[in-house]
Amino acid sequence: MMKLAKKDILGIRDMSREEINLILDTAESFLEISTREIKKVPTLRGKSVINLFYEASTRTRTSFELAGKRLSADTINISASTSSAVKGETLIDTARNLEAMTPDIIVIRHSAAGAPHLLAGLVRQSIINAGDGSHEHPSQALLDMLTIKEKKGKIAGLKVAIIGDIAHSRVARSNIYGLSKMGAEVVVAGPPTMLPRDIDKLGVRVCTKLEDAVADADVVMMLRIQLEREKQNIFPSLREYARHYCLNRRNLGLAKPDAIVMHPGPINRGVEISPDIADDPTCSVILNQVNNGVAVRMALLYLLTGGSE
Ligand code: CP
Repeated sequence: MMKLAKKDILGIRDMSREEINLILDTAESFLEISTREIKKVPTLRGKSVINLFYEASTRTRTSFELAGKRLSADTINISASTSSAVKGETLIDTARNLEAMTPDIIVIRHSAAGAPHLLAGLVRQSIINAGDGSHEHPSQALLDMLTIKEKKGKIAGLKVAIIGDIAHSRVARSNIYGLSKMGAEVVVAGPPTMLPRDIDKLGVRVCTKLEDAVADADVVMMLRIQLEREKQNIFPSLREYARHYCLNRRNLGLAKPDAIVMHPGPINRGVEISPDIADDPTCSVILNQVNNGVAVRMALLYLLTGGSE
């Protein structure tokens, strides 16, 4: 029986292929629980999980909460906007106070890259990174890998195109680490202002044209245009961006006929993905990703509290 020999889940970069497989296999076994009429098992009874979110979230926060509840853990949500952070309390002080309440796991999303790593070195509890700045979003990459495995039966040998704002995307970074470790060929594409210098050093092929990346792809992963960064002039206008980088029926036709389309959400309809593609059940697996997110987060909570495969 394999156990996860880690206190924290901080990123995919520091995860081995064996650890990724352990998490995906465990998540697969949890998928069935969410199909039951009574979606609850006693596995984590007596454990408590704090979701500490300093940034907005719909999918990640809700699915960590549901994951905890479906395993019978007590889950508590804290939003920075309604916490003592608004009175000026530092992240370190907040973490020390939460530690004093003896939860088992703290899930944190923060705009600062490295915030979860800081807490991991500070408190006894397991820390899960639910997205730190433009750095990593490990649970998203794990649910993406689970979805690819579910739909394609494998990850190794597939061509995965990741399109959009690569520079600011923690989803892209975690997926590049994970998919490469699992043997996929990863191609990234975006406007030059959205491609980090040296991204090719991560072992990916880099294109500036969406069409070049999508050609013969098995998986097309579109990224959200981060509208909050528009003021930084990284692209001329949404219309101009959509003209070159919106996935539509025409350019998706360049991918393999059975290619799947992914997006971490939230979607900007008509900007990075056309609504008819996003809503087309013959290619879009966006809601499967969301469904799998609950199982992946159940697996993370279970494995971090000492569960084995
Ligand atoms: N994919 C994702 O992280 O979505 P949320 O921001 O809604 O959590």
